[in-house]
Amino acid sequence: MDPAKLMFRDGLMTGERILVTGGGTGLGKEMAEAFLKLGAEVIIMGRRGKVLEETAAELTGRHGGTVIPLACDIRSAEAIAEAVGAVWEGGALTGLVNNAAGNFISRTQDLSPRGFDAIANIVFRGTFYMTLEVGKRWIAEGRPGNVVNILTTWVWNGSPFVVPSAMSKSGVRAMAESLAVEWGRYGIRFNNIAPGPFPTEGMSKRLSPGGGMENAERSANPLGRVGEMTELCNLAIFLMGPGAHYVNGQTIAIDGAMYQATGGNFSGLRAWTDEQWDMAKAMIKATNDKDKAARTV
Ligand code: HXC
Ligand code: NAP
Repeated sequence: MDPAKLMFRDGLMTGERILVTGGGTGLGKEMAEAFLKLGAEVIIMGRRGKVLEETAAELTGRHGGTVIPLACDIRSAEAIAEAVGAVWEGGALTGLVNNAAGNFISRTQDLSPRGFDAIANIVFRGTFYMTLEVGKRWIAEGRPGNVVNILTTWVWNGSPFVVPSAMSKSGVRAMAESLAVEWGRYGIRFNNIAPGPFPTEGMSKRLSPGGGMENAERSANPLGRVGEMTELCNLAIFLMGPGAHYVNGQTIAIDGAMYQATGGNFSGLRAWTDEQWDMAKAMIKATNDKDKAARTV
C-alpha cells in the first residue's frame, strides 16, 4: 500500500474501531494499515501470534496509533466469543472485515472430506461465527455496525479446482445479502469486495505453487496488470468509512474487468497433467506444514 495514493483524508476514520480477520498478512494487513493511517484503531486477528505481533509493530512504527494483535482461530465459535469479549473490554467495535480465508488448488476428486472442511470451516463457518458474535453485541447494545467481507469474483460463476472456496465464498455472499436486509433495521450494513489478482505470499504459494500465475494474470487482464494494494484499500475505506451508509448488500468487484474477460477463475488448469497436480500438491503441503508450525492457537 502506498499511503500517498490513498484517496481519503487523514483523520477520516478517527473514532472507528475495526477488527480485520487475517489482518497479520496479505490483503488484511494492507487494509489494516490503511484504516490505521486514516485514524482508526485496528485489531488484527489470525492464528500465528508472532506474525500478528510483528505486523502490529511494523504498522504502528510507520504510522503511530493503535494496532492490537489478537491470536484466535475463527474455526472455533468458543475461541471467537472469548476473543471478541476481550476486544469489547477495550471498547465496542464499529466495523468488522471478514478477510481470513484458506484455499488451495486441487482436483475435486482428490479432495477428502477433511480437505473440504479445511476450507469451509474457515471461510463458510468461521466468517458466520465471527459475524454472529459481533452482530449480537451490536444489536444488544443498540449500536450501528459495518461489515465488509472479502470474497472472490467466482461467487458469480464458480471456479473449477477451488470448489470448497467457491462454495464457501458464495455462502458468505448469501449471508451478507440476507443480513443486509434482516439487520438493516439495527443500522448494521453488509457489503462484499470481490478482488481479482492481488499477489500475496499466502495466495501465490497455494494457488500458483510453481509460480507463473502473476504473469498469466497480467497478460490476460484487460488492464495488463494485477491490482495495486492501495486500489483495494481505497475501496475498503469507502465501504468501511463514514459517508457510504446507504450502500448496503452489495458485492463490488475490483479486478480490472478480468472476470468479464476471462471468467476470473481457474479454468486454465484443465490443461494440467497428473504430474503437474502431484507436484502442486507436494508444494502446497510444504507451505501448509511450515505455516502450521508457526500457529499459536
Ligand atoms: C488435496 C489437500 C491439499 C491439496 C491439503 N489438503 N492440501 N488435499 N490437495 N493440495 C487436505 C489434507 O490432505 C487434509 O486432508 C486436509 O486438507 C487438511 O490438511 P491440513 O494440512 O491439516 O490443513 P490445515 O492445517 O487445516 O490448513 C488449512 C489450509 C491451510 C486451508 C489447508 O492452507 C491454511 O490454513 N491456509 C490459510 C492461508 C491461506 O490459505 N491463504 C490463501 C488465501 S488466498 P486429509 O483427509 O488428507 O487429512 C485466496 C485467494 C483467492 O483465497 C483468489 C485468487 C484470485
Ligand atoms: P493470506 O495472506 O494467506 O491471508 C489469509 C489470512 O487468513 C492469514 O493472515 C491467516 O492467518 C488468516 N487465517 C486463515 N485461517 C484462519 C483461521 N482459522 N483463524 C484466523 N485467521 C485465519 O492471503 P490473502 O491473499 O491476503 O487473502 C486474504 C483474503 O483475500 C482471503 O479472503 C482471500 O480469499 C481473498 N482474496 C485474495 C485474492 C488475492 O489475489 N490475494 C483475490 C481474491 C480474494 P493465520 O494463518 O496466521 O491464521
